[in-house]
Amino acid sequence: MNGTAPSLAQIRSLFPITRECVYFNHAGTGPMSLPARRAIERCIDLYSKNAEYAADDYFRLIHRAREKVAQLINALPEEIVLTHNTSEGIYIALANLPWREGDVVLVMEEVFPAVRYVVDNNLPGVKKRYVPFSGRDPVEVVRKCATERVKAVVVDHVQFLSGETVDLVRLGDYTKSNNMVLVVDGIQSIGALAFDVQTASGVDFVACGSAKWLFGPSGAGFLYVNRRNFQSLGTLHTGWLGAGWLGWEDIDALPALYPDARRFEMGTRNVIGILALSENVDILLQYGKERVEQRIASVKSHLRRSFDDLGFTILTPVHGTQSGIITVQPKDRIRALHRHLTEAGVVLSLRNEYLRFSPHFYNTEGEVDQIISAIRSF
Ligand SMILES: Cc1ncc(COP(=O)(O)O)c(C=O)c1O
Repeated sequence: MNGTAPSLAQIRSLFPITRECVYFNHAGTGPMSLPARRAIERCIDLYSKNAEYAADDYFRLIHRAREKVAQLINALPEEIVLTHNTSEGIYIALANLPWREGDVVLVMEEVFPAVRYVVDNNLPGVKKRYVPFSGRDPVEVVRKCATERVKAVVVDHVQFLSGETVDLVRLGDYTKSNNMVLVVDGIQSIGALAFDVQTASGVDFVACGSAKWLFGPSGAGFLYVNRRNFQSLGTLHTGWLGAGWLGWEDIDALPALYPDARRFEMGTRNVIGILALSENVDILLQYGKERVEQRIASVKSHLRRSFDDLGFTILTPVHGTQSGIITVQPKDRIRALHRHLTEAGVVLSLRNEYLRFSPHFYNTEGEVDQIISAIRSF
């Protein structure tokens, strides 16, 4: 694509899945783009012919990916750790905080299990307190639980089932001014919402996997570390590639660990996944992340109006920033309807007896009409 912002048709042509089915399941798994596929193929080609990248090329490609991710959320490259998934990012953030015995971590009760497993199994000596956020003012939730032992708050920016969003600007202002650290699972928002760490400046960490709204493939992701935390963090989950190597010829050089977020990159990287991530972020940046968010909101409001007309119960709240998720409960025969939609070429998720639809920016109002007529023919 050239310098001008691509059209929707051009974007759709980058996603072969748009020709195969009506894909409304980005909260489940993002489909691969052609630029990512080509980058992966180039990498495999090089691996099979050369075994490895020349050191300069390798460092350039890793740096480019870090820059792209930083640009997507308006951070600095040195605030980005390239990880393998969301859980790893949540772990790095929490395990490296300067905890004292008896400190408390406050966790949103409605988190996806990824956060729960990390919190429950990796923080010895830290008390875990789960509290409901759904339908509540997040600042009030935290204020009510706040004591001087509460050192960190962990939330999912977008709740995986309902699609409800947490206002991170207000919550971050509150946690920052009350000496708490705010850790965010961003996998259901980044890539869909125009997230900006300068606007949500109270946020300390955002962990994100590339498997969903960043079009995958799984096995890559990132952690944003707000630079005000660099000094206070420990060195758990650091390793040799957390240091400033310039090449591999002098292995005795033992360069120092990076003083920033990069020190948490432990060893050899998932280069294939990172190259794909770079390309996918580039697609979002070229279209414009605000435009991406607007497109998703527009497709989603068309879905909402149609579900209202059908008399479905809509789990997703109307208030607050609209994520890419809209989840509904028809009156009955939910599993049969899910099967019917699947047979009609609509891909969506069946979760806890709800139907979850999650369109991305290249989905169209026409596809919504196709879904609704498939439902009407059930
Ligand atoms: C909110 C949320 N967090 C995390 C994950 C996945 O975590 P990970 O990237 O560590 O596999 C999912 C879905 O799979 C999710 O919906």
